Amino acid sequence: MPTQYPRFLRLSPAAPPALRLLALAALLAAASPARAQTAASPPQLGKASLKEILAALTTEEKVKLVVGMGFYPSGFPAGMLPPGDPGDREVPEKVPGAAGRTHAIARLGIPSLTLSDGPAGVRIDAIRGKDSTKTYYATAFPVATLLASSWDTTLVRRVGGAFGSEVRDFGIDVLLAPGMNIHRNPLGGRNFEYYSEDPVVAGSMAAAFVNGVEGNGVGTSIKHFALNNQEFNRMQLNSHINERALREIYLKGFQLAVRKSQPWTVMSSYNKINGTYTSESHDLLTTLLRQEWGFKGLVMTDWYGGHDAAAQLKAGNDLLEPGTHAQTEAILAALKSGQLTPAQLDVNVTRVLELVLKSPTFKGYKYSSQPALKANAAVARQAAAESMVLLRNEAGTLPIAAGHQVALFGNTSYNLIAGGTGSGDVNRAYTISLAQGLSAAGYTVASAPSQAYAQYLQSEKAKLPKKRSFFEPLPVIAEMMPDAAMLAQQAQTTDVAIITLGRSAGEGGDRKVTDDFDLTSAEQALIKQVAAAFHGKGKKVVVVLNTGGVMEVASWRSQADAILLGWQPGQEGGHALADVLSGQVAPSGKLATTFPVAYTDVPYATEFPGKELASPGGAGGGLMGKPSENAYNEGIYVGYRYYTTFKVKPAYEFGYGLGYTTFAYGKLQLSAPSLTGKITASLKVTNSGRVAGKEVVQLYVHAPKGALAKPESELRAFAKTNLLAPGQSQTLTFTLTAADLASYNTAAEAWQTDAGTYTARAGASSLDIRQSATFTVPKLVVVQKSYKLLAPQQVVKELIVK
Ligand code: BGC
Repeated sequence: MPTQYPRFLRLSPAAPPALRLLALAALLAAASPARAQTAASPPQLGKASLKEILAALTTEEKVKLVVGMGFYPSGFPAGMLPPGDPGDREVPEKVPGAAGRTHAIARLGIPSLTLSDGPAGVRIDAIRGKDSTKTYYATAFPVATLLASSWDTTLVRRVGGAFGSEVRDFGIDVLLAPGMNIHRNPLGGRNFEYYSEDPVVAGSMAAAFVNGVEGNGVGTSIKHFALNNQEFNRMQLNSHINERALREIYLKGFQLAVRKSQPWTVMSSYNKINGTYTSESHDLLTTLLRQEWGFKGLVMTDWYGGHDAAAQLKAGNDLLEPGTHAQTEAILAALKSGQLTPAQLDVNVTRVLELVLKSPTFKGYKYSSQPALKANAAVARQAAAESMVLLRNEAGTLPIAAGHQVALFGNTSYNLIAGGTGSGDVNRAYTISLAQGLSAAGYTVASAPSQAYAQYLQSEKAKLPKKRSFFEPLPVIAEMMPDAAMLAQQAQTTDVAIITLGRSAGEGGDRKVTDDFDLTSAEQALIKQVAAAFHGKGKKVVVVLNTGGVMEVASWRSQADAILLGWQPGQEGGHALADVLSGQVAPSGKLATTFPVAYTDVPYATEFPGKELASPGGAGGGLMGKPSENAYNEGIYVGYRYYTTFKVKPAYEFGYGLGYTTFAYGKLQLSAPSLTGKITASLKVTNSGRVAGKEVVQLYVHAPKGALAKPESELRAFAKTNLLAPGQSQTLTFTLTAADLASYNTAAEAWQTDAGTYTARAGASSLDIRQSATFTVPKLVVVQKSYKLLAPQQVVKELIVK
């Protein structure tokens, strides 16, 4: 009887007995003339050509190179994860807590590479073994959703640079980040790891991050390619989508990232697209990614993704991570049966070797395990402060002058949530709370609420389960209701109240509407009582949102004088919040994802995250579970494309964000009346207010009616000014080509830009358009001829513009 692993982890069901395979491997190896010739002095990677290395590798060694060394994390019950090849577990890990390793072939000078998560900081064990005298904490940077709100690719590149130095100095070769799936629905459990609902923002941010990280001579893995837009049943989910939406919304960001940063690796996703696992899709990984987009690197699976190892290699998925012995057996069997050719395996092996050749491990980089944590914390703080979004600021409530007395309410004022859970989490040395940040910035944090919360949180934390599973966020501690007398006294004696509301989510589960997207009744009551008490004394109430994803704000915002969206700002969060609340840093972030009025406003809200299908013997739920399916019926109308086209007014629209100053937009000047090759649009932005600030200008384009229905407008470019002093101006210039304006015409199998009159709209948000100008495209431009691929298995119903 073969070992029975949970259904989601079982790989090839028909693995032949190990002995026969070993014999086969030995036979194949012995039959290789190159092996016989070079046995005395085998060629060495880097010195010999790849052809010589390939000739010297035995079949068994080649298979080892495309299958990782297994995964043995602490906290997973024994036997839950399938083992790697015999002996792999015993090989000491170079970096404990890293997620994956490749096999070394020592006799040919091929070292083992180390792969590590994740998008908000290097995720490794902070303590190794029993020795806690030396620690290995990495910087917890702000989450991706926050970084995208900066709309500042220079800043994100700087974060990538600091991040990559930690990857390198901890001895890691490839960072398993950035995550760049689209925010399709606000309930997506991993949205915090992803940038935006818009592919131009997501792709630009990912490229900046990759360039920053890889500038350190280490690799990245842009993930999860593609359509991992939810966590529910992610390993068995079949997503039905039409080719246009797939290309224009869900693949375009990846395409931009490949074009602008050529990452070392891509990670395929768990789910199926139109019936095929992405890791087994030749259409996706070879025809599109390599032939059409020109990707030159390696593709790896997500951890235990897909189910047919040979099909994965054939599709162009070169490395199976974290690797299981069953996969090794399945590949050897496929070679024997002819299902997989040696030539195909050589293609995959070559890509692994090319990756090894670039790696710091191969180059013998002497890593210190002591990255510049102090300098990197400063980068994390700056990035957080520059990206927070000021959602509301009635009558100049913010900034709050230094020295004021502040009463802090809400659990997360004292226990800031630095980031999300799962593989996007970081083992960090500390998290600065809002209370600490404000104290350090010179405010007096009122002691009565501080003490009450300290006591409450201590007793509630003691009730929490000791150990949680990797995929399970800690249970949320309900909000405490401040004592009425204490509240009245605080309203009397302090200057302002700040209430922080926190949300955490992560890998393995999606969020819920009740008590998560929507406020809990305790949170609603807290806002109401604090607002009544403070407003009664003529004092202001500020709400800070400490969340990785979108929340409902419309029903309660009128009770708050100011709302600052602090996102999940990383370990320096409390300092960064204080920087913005004090005006030390001018808020300049804008939303890269829409805040709808109600969850029901999200297109096909009730159909998310899809439905389970009947399956004999299916077990489990949530993450793994039964086969399920999900139809992307909204097509291209995702996020603001939906809200603007269908005229559904959000609470805070895509691109929205206030500052402490105002900006005047000069006339939008086009370089020519019609687009031939390219056209530039420029405009002068002037700080018309009284304090310094930065402005994000978004260039939306409204397309003429053509063969295809188009969204009301689409973001085609964006730019951010420098810090402008009052009265100071800066001219921003945007360049557009026909490719930037193209839509995907499925019938023609081509990216096309229709002829007609286009309107370029420069906006402070997707709804706040300040300047516009028109230009023409004289005749239809076929930007790129493509292939028919990833065609839906069934008709996907689509939203139609009336
Ligand atoms: C996640 C990936 C991650 C990998 C390794 C998977 O469960 O989906 O994003 O990189 O684990 O930890």
